[in-house]
Amino acid sequence: MNHTQFAPILINWQRQHGRRNLPWQVQDPYRIWLSEIMLQQTQVATVCGYYPRFIEKFPTVADLAAAEQDEVLALWAGLGYYSRARNLHKAARQVVEQFGGRFPQSRQELETLCGVGRSTAAAISAFAFGQRETILDGNVKRILCRIFARDGNPADKKFEQSLWTLAESLMPSENQDMPAYTQGLMDLGATVCKRSKPLCGECPMSSMCEAKKQNRIDELPRRKAAVNVQTLPLYWLTVRNQDNKIWLHKREQGGIWGGLYCVPCFESLDELHRFADDLGLNEGDLSEDTPFTHRLTHRLLLITPFTATCPNPPFSDGLWVAPQDLADYGLPKPLQDYLHRKQGRLF
Ligand code: ADE
Repeated sequence: MNHTQFAPILINWQRQHGRRNLPWQVQDPYRIWLSEIMLQQTQVATVCGYYPRFIEKFPTVADLAAAEQDEVLALWAGLGYYSRARNLHKAARQVVEQFGGRFPQSRQELETLCGVGRSTAAAISAFAFGQRETILDGNVKRILCRIFARDGNPADKKFEQSLWTLAESLMPSENQDMPAYTQGLMDLGATVCKRSKPLCGECPMSSMCEAKKQNRIDELPRRKAAVNVQTLPLYWLTVRNQDNKIWLHKREQGGIWGGLYCVPCFESLDELHRFADDLGLNEGDLSEDTPFTHRLTHRLLLITPFTATCPNPPFSDGLWVAPQDLADYGLPKPLQDYLHRKQGRLF
């Protein structure tokens, strides 16, 4: 395929068949940046449930910068990958402190913001400022590997660099075309050139697709080696007081669920028993619920939840929260779901 044909075909296709009216298809770099961070590793449909609430609470980057981390995490709770929310908050403060509250336009300056890598910086500069910068996320890599039959190890830095070079050679020449072009790459990857069962019949490039010609659509791009997932057992102790309130504490920054509110959580049953003992609880005071698993990127958590009531525990840090107020706190998704399942039975 001739590289100069790529952009006009894609832009044409985007204007006719691409996604429009997504809530972040605006020119405000703050809204674009927020959407790009939320959309990392998260589906459009899921983000649509969070994004409007976020914008309503924090309409500008200055509002977000002025917020407490807890408020940000509470609105993020359930989206997962909480380092994104912590970085988001830090980046908002960077924009205010280092750029006078206005997003920089260049991809290089955008990359200095916490949580913003090269592809996200390129997306913001292309969408908000029409800069000629290419994105290269997983979807775009898939499109390029197929159309140009690029066969390489996805973990290989040289191969990755060659895809950046290819992506840069395909951009349209006019700045004004960059938003439709960039959205076209995202839309083609998400709706047509899908990982499995791609809809080649609907692809504007299918007649020029090398992988299709070579009958290698299922083979390209080559898959990443499977991540090595370790199982980590965790033991939770949900303590209630006489008012049915639950004791939560803020987890330390870093580590899993850093900065979120959680019930006491232990890596061994021994630790949980020692903690219970300090509260004056015996083993007989603890009731065990059905264990369940929760998958993180590199770990499978095997969570065994216990509950107990404790009239007046000598807690110093943390706080008592009524079940109906749990939504005001950023809780890990599996804890949110577990407490929700218990509503009605226990609370
Ligand atoms: N995924 C990442 N960025 C996106 C965008 N702007 N629209 C739809 N999906 C996306």
